[in-house]
Amino acid sequence: MTDRYAVIGNPVGHSKSPMIHGTFARATGQDLEYIAIEGSEAGFEAEVAAFRAAGGRGMNVTTPFKLRAFALATERMERAALAGAANALKFDGDRILADNFDGLGLVGDIERNLGYALRGKRVLLMGAGGAARGALLPFLQQEPALLVIANRTIEKAMDLARHAVARGNVRGGGYAVLVDQQFDVVVNATSASLRGELPPVPPSVFGDGCLAYELVYGRGLTPFLRLAQNAGAAKLADGVGMLVEQAAEGFAWWRGVRPDTRALIGRLTVPLV
Ligand code: ATR
Repeated sequence: MTDRYAVIGNPVGHSKSPMIHGTFARATGQDLEYIAIEGSEAGFEAEVAAFRAAGGRGMNVTTPFKLRAFALATERMERAALAGAANALKFDGDRILADNFDGLGLVGDIERNLGYALRGKRVLLMGAGGAARGALLPFLQQEPALLVIANRTIEKAMDLARHAVARGNVRGGGYAVLVDQQFDVVVNATSASLRGELPPVPPSVFGDGCLAYELVYGRGLTPFLRLAQNAGAAKLADGVGMLVEQAAEGFAWWRGVRPDTRALIGRLTVPLV
């Protein structure tokens, strides 16, 4: 019988996950079906249970259900626990396993596809919401010299840093204190770009050879990427590579085979102009 998977979110119509997983399945010769399910505020848990009862083997979870997916799991992988959110579930008998591959996908894209090794580097992570929380542990595992979390609500950045201090050299704070600091990699994990807004990051943060990475994808030069470009950042990237890489991690978790990502990222990449 064909194994069934799904992405659940709301809205979910724009999700590229069915296409990405379908491509992976064909490329690796895996017999599986992958659909999109529009989840509801009132019935998310019941909708997951129904898919599972109908033979579903796993799900990706997207906005706004990542926290609820984390809560309904019976076992939580460490990455998901630190993020407090899950973007992937695996159903195994009575067990519901939760993991979060967003941060791993981001780091994989930066290191493997964009060629920026993070070890010993100075990294600025903007934002302290779900997206930033998911990226924290995967970044620290690469042993950067320093990871600074900057957030508009300073307390949230400090809190996040406090939680991760045992994992590496991490500091949290606001944007104003960044004026005399420079970084090798600057990541916008805020949701500002979704509304055409720009976090108050000083243009001087982009150091020599700096990579500016925008988690949002498919929106061309966002205000953040435009700022980085004008400030002389050496490389600009949006989150399309992260999207494909996190999908590949989830696919490998479910199927035990890691699909090749390069060709698909190439196909989905829209030039940043
Ligand atoms: P997500 O799950 O996408 O991270 P979230 O949990 O709502 O979404 O978090 C949004 C993040 O973007 C927060 O860090 C938020 O900053 P605050 O904690 O101060 O609210 C940040 N953010 C959103 N709009 C912003 C803006 N215009 N400037 C700076 N930061 C912004």
